[in-house]
Amino acid sequence: MNDKKKEQGQLSRRDFLKMGVSALSFVALLEVGGASLLFMRPRSGDGEYGGLVSAGAVDSFSPGSVTEFPDGRFYLVRASDGGFLAMYRRCTHLGCNVKWEVEQNRFFCPCHASSFNLLGEVENPPAPSALDTFAVHINESQVVVDTSRIQNRDGFAPEQLAYG
Ligand code: FES
Repeated sequence: MNDKKKEQGQLSRRDFLKMGVSALSFVALLEVGGASLLFMRPRSGDGEYGGLVSAGAVDSFSPGSVTEFPDGRFYLVRASDGGFLAMYRRCTHLGCNVKWEVEQNRFFCPCHASSFNLLGEVENPPAPSALDTFAVHINESQVVVDTSRIQNRDGFAPEQLAYG
């Protein structure tokens, strides 16, 4: 009887249920796969950490200033000679966020009390190295920081500064 129905192009109830379960499984797999891809995708939107951050006009930063960019996770320092340095706010010891302390003229890590000078050099351990940096580009008098790649360094060197 079953064979007869198949020969006639009709589906048995069992075949119909199998097809339904297979189709639902496929849809569920697509949803799980799509959600996983969205979750794992790197954040690389411009204007925030992982992308290009437009900091503003060169002239809006006075020499010797420190400006925090929370969305970009960095501090933009303008050195006394006018050069720019963008420093990742993550402490090089165990990764806590450092804070700029104006009165002490230093970056301070609240976790284990490391401190760094204006150019990110270690003043007080246990931090093992200077604060990491991001590349700074100056285009048509606008400061742009590329937060897509972290640059490690042992200490400060003048060629790390960017000029307009
Ligand atoms: S994480 Fe900054 S000093 Fe330990």
